[in-house]
Amino acid sequence: MADNVVRLPKGINIGVDYYPEHWDEALWVKDADMMRDAGVKLVRMGEFAWCRFEPEEGRFDFEWLDRAVRLFAERDIYVVLCTPTNTPPQWLFEKYPEIVQVDKWGRRIQTGIRGHRCLNSPVYRELSEKIIAYMAERYKDERYVVGYQIDNELESNHCRCDVCKSRFREWIEKKYGTVEEINKAYGNNVWSGEYSDFSQVMPPMNDNEKWLNPSLNLDFNRYASDSTCDYVKFQSDIIRKISPDKFITTNTWLCANMPDFYDMFENLDIVSFDNYPAHVLPEDDETLYSHAFHLDLMRGVKNKNFWIMEQLSGMIGSWGPMSRAIQPGMMEGYSLQAIAHGADAVIHFRWRTAVSGAEMYWQGIIDHSNVPGRRYKEFCELCSKVREIQELDGTVCRNRIAILYSSDNEYAFKNQHQAEEMHYFEQMKQWHDAFICLGLGVDIISQKEKLNGYRIIVAPTMFVENKETVSNIYDAAAKGATVILTNRSGERDYNNKCIMKQLPVAYSELTGIKVSEYEALPDGMQVLLKFSEETDIRSECALKSGLFGKRWCDIIEENDKVEVLARYDEQFYKGAPAVTRNKYGNGEVYYFGTMLNRDGSIDFARQMAVSQGLDIIEGLEKGVEVTYRYGDKTWRFIFNNTQKEQKAIVDEEEIVLKPFEMNITSLH
Ligand code: GLA
Ligand code: ZN
Repeated sequence: MADNVVRLPKGINIGVDYYPEHWDEALWVKDADMMRDAGVKLVRMGEFAWCRFEPEEGRFDFEWLDRAVRLFAERDIYVVLCTPTNTPPQWLFEKYPEIVQVDKWGRRIQTGIRGHRCLNSPVYRELSEKIIAYMAERYKDERYVVGYQIDNELESNHCRCDVCKSRFREWIEKKYGTVEEINKAYGNNVWSGEYSDFSQVMPPMNDNEKWLNPSLNLDFNRYASDSTCDYVKFQSDIIRKISPDKFITTNTWLCANMPDFYDMFENLDIVSFDNYPAHVLPEDDETLYSHAFHLDLMRGVKNKNFWIMEQLSGMIGSWGPMSRAIQPGMMEGYSLQAIAHGADAVIHFRWRTAVSGAEMYWQGIIDHSNVPGRRYKEFCELCSKVREIQELDGTVCRNRIAILYSSDNEYAFKNQHQAEEMHYFEQMKQWHDAFICLGLGVDIISQKEKLNGYRIIVAPTMFVENKETVSNIYDAAAKGATVILTNRSGERDYNNKCIMKQLPVAYSELTGIKVSEYEALPDGMQVLLKFSEETDIRSECALKSGLFGKRWCDIIEENDKVEVLARYDEQFYKGAPAVTRNKYGNGEVYYFGTMLNRDGSIDFARQMAVSQGLDIIEGLEKGVEVTYRYGDKTWRFIFNNTQKEQKAIVDEEEIVLKPFEMNITSLH
C-alpha cells in the first residue's frame, strides 16, 4: 500500500468528467476557462479514449492529452487520468478477436459497445500493459496529474471464453485439491453431480444458474470477483512501479455483478464511487429510501474518506426512457450529502452532454445546445459553497453503529431468492434507516472487520457462514455491544449448503433461541405482531401504524432464558415469539424473526441506542439526515433529502430546510 507516499490534492474539491476527444479543440479552451471561473479543481479524462491514444498497434499519440492536461494545469485544475482499457479500439478487436468476451451462451459479444473485453486474455493484458506503462511514464513528472482511475466501473468478469474456463478450473483445483474434496464440499451426490475429473467443472452457462448447485454458483461468483481483483492488481502494479506518488483508484458502483469491494480496493489508495441518487423520491412512509446508505457503504470499504468519481448532474436516459429533470437544489444537496458522509472530492458526470453515441440523453452540466443553463448556474453555486467549507479538509466521520455487509451473503441470497421481493440489502437498509432517523450515524463495513469500538452491531441476514465473523460478533457482544441478528442467519455453511441443525445454527448460543419452523410471505402480505406486556420498548411509532412483520416469519420456540419482546398476533403461529432479546456476556442480542415495518424498527432502534447511551435526536422527519465530520472542530450537517420543506429541531434550534437543502455548521 502506497498510503503514505501518494499525494492527494488538498481541500474538498469539486470536479467534472471531461471528454476532450468528443469536442473540437477550439472548444477546450472555452470549457477550461468556464471551469476555472466556476471553481472546478479536478478533471477526470481518458477512460474510453484508447483509439485516440493508440491509433494503430504500437503507435501512441498522447500529444492531444498533453495539451489538454496543460490547459487545465495552467488554470490550476488537477487531472485524474484513466487507463483506457474499458474500450479497446476496433483494430485491436479485429486483429485479436480472442480478446472479445464470450457470453453465457458461448457467443462472442458484438464489438462497438464497452466493457466487453476478456480481462484474462493474455494478448489483451499485454497490450494493456504497454499503453498503461506508456501513459504512466509520460505523466510521472506532471504534477497536475494527481492520480489514476483504473478502467471504468469494473464488474466481476463473467466471461466464458476458453481462457476464463480454464482459469476457473485452476481456481477450483487450487482450492479443493482433489475431486473427492469438492464433491464433499458441494454435496454433489445430488442429481449425479459428482466430478471424476476437474475438467468436468463448468462455469454456469445459459440461463440455468438457478438449476445448478448453489455451491458451484457461489464459488463461481467468488472466482469472478478474484479474477477482477487480479486485473485491478495487474494494472495498479504497473502504475505504482512507474509513478509511485500518484494515487490509484477505480470507480465502482452497485451493479449486478459486483466484485467484493473490500478485496478490490485492498491495494488501491482510495475508494471512488459513481453516485447517482434518485431523481424522484418515494412519497409513502413505509418505502425505505436513504441514499446515504450507498455513501456509508463506500466509506466503509476502506474505513476512510472517499471520492465521488461521477456525480449526478442532470436527467438520466439513453438505454431507458428519460427521467425527470434533476430538481432545483438536487445538484448542490446531493453533492454536499456525499461530503457529509466522507467524500473529499465530488466529480460531476459530465461537463457537457454527449451529442453522439449511446449516451446522448444522459445529461451533463451543460446541454446539447452548449448554452449554459439552470444546472450550470446551480453547479457554480455549489462550487462557491464548497469554497466556504475548506476547513473540512482532514476531518473524518466516526460512528458507533456498524452494519455488516458480505458479498457472499448478497450473492447467495440473490441466487436463491428466499421470499418474493425479499432482497439482501433490505434488512440492512431497514436498520440503517431506523438509526439515521434518530440522528445517528452508521458505518457499513465488511463482515470480516474487527468490531472494536462499535456499540451497536447490526448483522442482518448472516446467511453464509464465515467462522471469523461469527467469532467477532460473539466477542463484541461479550464485551458489551448490542447486536441485531435477523431471520435467515446461520442458514448455510461456507460452501453454501444447508446445515442439519436448528436455526440460527452458529448464532443459537448468542441469541439464546431456536427456530422451530418458518414461513416465507408473499410480497404485500403482513402479519400482525404485538409488543409483549413485559417489554420496556417505547412503542410510540408502532402505535401509530401498528406493529407488523413482512417478507418472512421465523417461529421461535418459547424458552425461559430469553425475553420475548414481540409476538405474532395472527396465523397458525399466533402467540409465538417473533422478536427476542438475550443477555450475552456484557451485551444484549436482539433477534428479529420477521422484518418489521418501518415504525416498528425505529422503536427498537431507539431502545438500543438509549440503552447504549447514544445521543439520539427525536422528531426528525423521514428524509432529514444529521451527520457529523470530526477534526479540530466538529462539523454538523443537516440534510433535507425530500421534496418538501422540512423543519428540524436540533440542539434546541429550529432549522428550516428547503427541498434538498443542506445546513452546515461548525460546532466548536
Ligand atoms: C456510468 C459510467 C459512465 C456513464 C454513466 C452514465 O457511471 O461510468 O461512463 O456511462 O454511467 O451512463
Ligand atoms: Zn475470457
